Amino acid sequence: MQVKKESAAAATKKLVCVMAIYGNQALFLYFCREIINGKGEIQKRQVESFVKKEQVNEAAARIAQLRREIEEHNYRYHVLDDPVISDSEFDALMRELIELERQYPELQSEDSPTRRVGGAPLPGFATLTHKIPMLGLDNAFALEELREFDRRLRRLAGLSSIDYFCELKVDGLAVSLQYEEGLFVRGSTRGDGFTGEDITSNLRTIKQIPLRLPEAVTLEARGEVYINRADFEAMNEQRRQNGEPLFANPRNAAAGSLRQLDPRVTASRSLRIFLYGMGEHNLPLKTHAELLDYLERLRLPVNKNRALCRGIDEAWEFCLSWQDRRSELPYEIDGIVIKVNDLALQERLGNTARSPRWAIAFKYPPEEKRTKVIDIQVNVGRTGAITPVAILEPVFISGSTVQRASLHNEDIIAEKGVMIGDTVVIRKAGEIIPEVVRVLKEERTGEEKPFRMPEKCPSCGAAVHRLPGEAARRCLNPSCPAQLVERIVHFASRRAMDIEGLGPAVAELLWREGLVRSVADLYYLEVSQLAPLERLAEKSASNLVAAIEKSKGHPLHRLLFGLGIRFVGEKAARLLAEHFLTLDKLRRAEREELTAIPEIGPKIADAVYRFFREPETEELLEKLEKAGVNFSEPVAAAAAAAARTLEGKTFVFSGALERFTRDEAAELVRERGGKVASSVSRKTDYLVAGSEPGSKLARARELGVEVIDEETFIRMLQL
Ligand code: IVH
Repeated sequence: MQVKKESAAAATKKLVCVMAIYGNQALFLYFCREIINGKGEIQKRQVESFVKKEQVNEAAARIAQLRREIEEHNYRYHVLDDPVISDSEFDALMRELIELERQYPELQSEDSPTRRVGGAPLPGFATLTHKIPMLGLDNAFALEELREFDRRLRRLAGLSSIDYFCELKVDGLAVSLQYEEGLFVRGSTRGDGFTGEDITSNLRTIKQIPLRLPEAVTLEARGEVYINRADFEAMNEQRRQNGEPLFANPRNAAAGSLRQLDPRVTASRSLRIFLYGMGEHNLPLKTHAELLDYLERLRLPVNKNRALCRGIDEAWEFCLSWQDRRSELPYEIDGIVIKVNDLALQERLGNTARSPRWAIAFKYPPEEKRTKVIDIQVNVGRTGAITPVAILEPVFISGSTVQRASLHNEDIIAEKGVMIGDTVVIRKAGEIIPEVVRVLKEERTGEEKPFRMPEKCPSCGAAVHRLPGEAARRCLNPSCPAQLVERIVHFASRRAMDIEGLGPAVAELLWREGLVRSVADLYYLEVSQLAPLERLAEKSASNLVAAIEKSKGHPLHRLLFGLGIRFVGEKAARLLAEHFLTLDKLRRAEREELTAIPEIGPKIADAVYRFFREPETEELLEKLEKAGVNFSEPVAAAAAAAARTLEGKTFVFSGALERFTRDEAAELVRERGGKVASSVSRKTDYLVAGSEPGSKLARARELGVEVIDEETFIRMLQL
């Protein structure tokens, strides 16, 4: 629905009709005369202001309705897994809401679904103290340990049997969500249990978390943020294609995603949450079962695989029942949490320093499978490191088929004694990355062959070296094709120069055809050279050239990261770029200047210093510069990223503001696309009234210009 902009004339007619109906004849005639004579400026403005208020009311009602509907669909989709409208219908609702909020910035609200991903990247996280510490759990690995736990509790409680509540122990990251009068106000990590990090903006991006509860309650809910296995695999696949380091397991992926300083990154990570408990609250709840039902009623996601168990033997049954079925779940669990159901009894039992006495985690052993090592091959990475990889007879383990397992380096092969043809036990480290646990030497037939690391690089034939203090052997040939192809792939990856269409296959092709020998050569490619290549049709050849061209304008930190300087990851690249601002300054920097930057240690400094003194680097940079690749970091990248939420709106300030000077306030408006005028006119949209606003306020009232206070102004700025 579109809120119509009523013309002043139409609105005037409406008002006149209203007055006619209500019989205010004198005023009616007066208006008629004024309007006919064209002298009714002030009244007209009053009429306009009336119309504006009416439009705002209408928009406010529609906005409220859209927000309710969108949150309902979010809940159905993300929590109940039972959507009732299509994605495009949902998108249409979102678009309408975004548009209305853009037209009426004064109607923005913290709990709007449009405001899940908001705010600029943070410089760091603030710390928060947990009112009630977030404790860990004691572990048990066998039935006997569970019986011991139960005996201890029955003795302490003086009971012959205890009711337990059993839940899945989802492997993720513990968080706390604070709601005040129904509004999500703060969220934090567990941290050390006493203080955590304020990750509110990141948690807001998780669509399963309601920004407003259906009841105006104040409480702290606690739970686990996690990633589904499939989302984790897709995420790692994407990272692999982009040449980014992989996450070892879903847990690390969830933790890494939640601790992103830029909420937009978190928003892209398919994080999910289950709530399993409460911190501070004053609700009349008697059992843990009731507590979870209540959280569920508040539309918070609670895992439905849960059960009340009468006595420890029933709890054990629950543990066993999930041991084999757990691989069918879409997420990883590493055990079962068994909790005393009676909340008053929980309270009586209390906590030890580390964990509550009333709960225990039963931990499953990691799944292990036998398979055969068919071969051991080596990979050459971007830095020349040569990594041995076991090629396995395919085996299904912990949710997926495994055919390869990294053997890391020759020391690890020797330590485990792995030979080609061996039968080995494998498992997934952190439930994900396949690793060889041990060799079943008793299965040997005598046919097994020892593996030797190659003396020569399998790609270029250059001698490989093991440098002092390193476990890896490296190919040190700077023009080794395998390294070069890997370097191009890394340079083009999303977090680096973000060149779409330049993955491993294309990089390899460009090398094979002799078109690219260094990343700088990319910038000299022409469509006519690419189009005839068998894998690149005309269209994708021109797309590729366009994508390469576009990458020239990226900020310096992407280039630095893309160059693949040893030890310079994304973070170091940003620190260096933000410190030096230009590549020229950075390449001239001495080691001491580099180590003086907080968080840049001697290892990085040394690698950077040396990189810029290599003759090949000189040549490379010269070529890049000639091609017009940007070598500088924009100073106000963050400010430029601010959304233009005040586009087309004119502000006038009057009186003193508390939080800003006039100039600062004006700058904030301009950053968001708005205008600032020095005096009130009919074109003014808002007068921001500070203390003692003076004559401008009277003028604004006279013209029917909307007057807002500093609080409202701050809300509009979405600070
Ligand atoms: S209760 C005071 N319930 O396991 C009791 N924890 O080792 C606090 N976890 O950091 C925990 N699923 O994040 C509880 N259903 C569940 C859980 C669960 C996963 C995590 C939790 C905590 C860790 C304890």
